[in-house]
Amino acid sequence: MTDKYAVIGHPIGHSKSPFIHSEFANQCEQDMEYTAIEVPLDGLEPSLKQLRDILKLKGINITVPFKEQAWALANTLSERAKRAGAINTLIFNSDGTMHGDNTDGAGLCRDLLNHHVELKDQRILILGAGGAARGVIQPLLSQQPQAVVIANRTIDKATQLADAFSDMGNITGGGFDDITGQFDLIINATSASLQGEVPALSARILSPDTSCYDMMYGEKDTAFIRWAKQHGVKKTMDGLGMLIEQAAEAFFLWRHEKPDTQAVIKLLKKA
Ligand code: ATR
Repeated sequence: MTDKYAVIGHPIGHSKSPFIHSEFANQCEQDMEYTAIEVPLDGLEPSLKQLRDILKLKGINITVPFKEQAWALANTLSERAKRAGAINTLIFNSDGTMHGDNTDGAGLCRDLLNHHVELKDQRILILGAGGAARGVIQPLLSQQPQAVVIANRTIDKATQLADAFSDMGNITGGGFDDITGQFDLIINATSASLQGEVPALSARILSPDTSCYDMMYGEKDTAFIRWAKQHGVKKTMDGLGMLIEQAAEAFFLWRHEKPDTQAVIKLLKKA
């Protein structure tokens, strides 16, 4: 019987995950089906039961706005998911339990590696202190950067987030005005790009070798990527690669096989 998977969210119409996972399945000759399912905003728990017990899915990906709620509903969590406070992947075990994991941070690190961006001993600035930032901090710290600084519009959220991970490495938080020094890598984890905005940053934080990464992506450069290019940043990346790499990590959890992500990145860029 064909194994069934899905991505759930609200809205979910524009999700690229069904395309990505069907490409992975073809590549790896895996007998599986992957669809996108919109779940009512107030109906996550009954929907999970339905997906598991009636539709007999083997696993799901979870996207906005359910990642935190699903984290609370999972029976067991991976270590990285525990720290992230959110999950993007669930495995429905045969005994009916749900295991949650978060592959976003691993996907980001993998994409950075693909772009030959070093993390070890580097100075990394994360913009934003919401769910997207929280989800990637543990995997970034595990690469042993020299320092991670979280800067956010609401300063308290940045300091609290840094405190929550301070046992793992050199991590501090503050406001955009508190940022001092230059960074090797700046990651935009705010949702400002959705409104076409850029956090209020001084170009003094850039060096000639700074790389800039926006976790968002679009057909055109995001406002943050435009800001970086305007200030002479040579290496800019958007979140399309992270999307595909987090999917590959989820595919691996379900199917125990690593697909060739570069082929799928090329296809999506062409589309
Ligand atoms: P997500 O799950 O995408 O992280 P979120 O938890 O709502 O969503 O967090 C959004 C992040 O983007 C927050 O860090 C938010 O800053 P505040 O905590 O001050 O609200 C940040 N953000 C959103 N719009 C922004 C803007 N126009 N300029 C700067 N930061 C912005």
